[in-house]
Amino acid sequence: MEKSLWDNWVEEALSKLQSLKLLRSLRPICVSTNEQQLQLLGEEYEVFNEMQKWDRSSVEVSISQTTFHRWLHEIPSSGDEIVYRDGVVNDEAGMSSRQFKKLLLFSGNDYLGLSSHPTIGKAAAKAALEHGMGPRGSALICGYTNYHRLLESCLADLKKKEDCLLCPTGFAANMAVMVALGNIASLLPAGEKPLKDEKVAIFSDAFNHASIIDGIRLAERTKNVEVFVYRHCDMSHLNSLLSSCTMKKKVVVTDSLFSMDGDFAPMIELVKLRKKYGFLLVLDDAHGTFVCGKNGGGVAEAFNCERDVDICVGTLSKAAGCNGGFIACSERWKQFIQSRGRSFIFSTATTIPIAAAAHAAAVIVAKKETWRRTAIWNRVRDFQALTGIPISSPIISVVVGSEEKALQASRHLLKSGFHVTAIRPPTVPSNSCRLRITLSAAHTTDDLKKLTTALSGCINLGVIGSDSSNVYAKL
Ligand SMILES: Cc1ncc(COP(=O)(O)O)c(C=O)c1O
Repeated sequence: MEKSLWDNWVEEALSKLQSLKLLRSLRPICVSTNEQQLQLLGEEYEVFNEMQKWDRSSVEVSISQTTFHRWLHEIPSSGDEIVYRDGVVNDEAGMSSRQFKKLLLFSGNDYLGLSSHPTIGKAAAKAALEHGMGPRGSALICGYTNYHRLLESCLADLKKKEDCLLCPTGFAANMAVMVALGNIASLLPAGEKPLKDEKVAIFSDAFNHASIIDGIRLAERTKNVEVFVYRHCDMSHLNSLLSSCTMKKKVVVTDSLFSMDGDFAPMIELVKLRKKYGFLLVLDDAHGTFVCGKNGGGVAEAFNCERDVDICVGTLSKAAGCNGGFIACSERWKQFIQSRGRSFIFSTATTIPIAAAAHAAAVIVAKKETWRRTAIWNRVRDFQALTGIPISSPIISVVVGSEEKALQASRHLLKSGFHVTAIRPPTVPSNSCRLRITLSAAHTTDDLKKLTTALSGCINLGVIGSDSSNVYAKL
């Protein structure tokens, strides 16, 4: 494949790092003494071809009466409602009660219902019993093991990239990428400091996740990057910003599926603009990974443009039902980010049981239990059919306006047996508070019928308008 300008810049930056003796390598520790056992990982995973009873525990939750009461009356809670072994609850007056309120969860990010999957739990338990929790240190020191490598390879394959770098969280992954990008400019100036045109120009969607924003802010402090925020998904705005920018090193960074709005980045238009301007495309596929695309490869797979994404950030904390983050990219970029991404370098590696569990999750959903993806998209269609609201993903953002309205709607749903939290500032602007309803493969059509009935008791579904894909509602 022909090398892009960005390939050349990252190569140049790598040689500069080498000359400065700042290039860093992973030195995997082999914690499994039995090589055959490791190779067998993946083949021994038990899989299921339809929903099981235990799947429901990923969406059926209980809260104590005290928590219920505090939530309904907006009484702050520090989480100290003590629950004893036998289910006795001490409320704030010291009274004990055995009552719990069962709720159906519609606010998690466990899109495929994997958080309760026994095979994934067993993978974690087996690794924990054999090796303990692990990691002993950061990945560059001694925390990186053959379990981490196995997971990285599996994720690189899923994302159709040369390689992958595991990070402690998705938040840390975005921070590492942004900070590393800022570093590129500081390593490549002709003079001592980068002139304006030698800096990196980062174009960021206005609704990008906080971890991207914070990463950019950190990179900005080094004075090596210039930031241009474009209106949410507005490609003509992005085009005009790109066309008037004289800096050569351009980067566009966007969420793929927006976490609070449920709409997709305009992938096809982004690919066209990338061809026109040669920018580096960084995609945060936190919500699309495992959920979108035939193989669960994410939003780029769904839009058939995986090759046009240069760096794909993902998380294992959502559809994989575990936690941890990753950066799928070329080998060059991996080497650069692991040498310069401070949130990767200076944080303890993912624990071994989590790496084992995430590997099981990735193998199960990407390759085996494909019915889960079918189920979640069927639930998206159910919601649409029941409400007439055009939604494009399992994230349904019902914007109600003020904070009080969002809290009122959330309380109504709580009383009706649903866990749907109100999303307020600083997550969203103060005039666009909302209910964020998320669907899961573990929900049934019947669950959706009940939810939409309850929803119509607090929101006028008949007058909902649509603006991009989030929906504006009247109470
Ligand atoms: C779009 C997006 N990116 C990154 C993250 C951070 O991922 P993690 O929870 O693994 O830190 C999140 C989590 O909320 C997210 O929604």
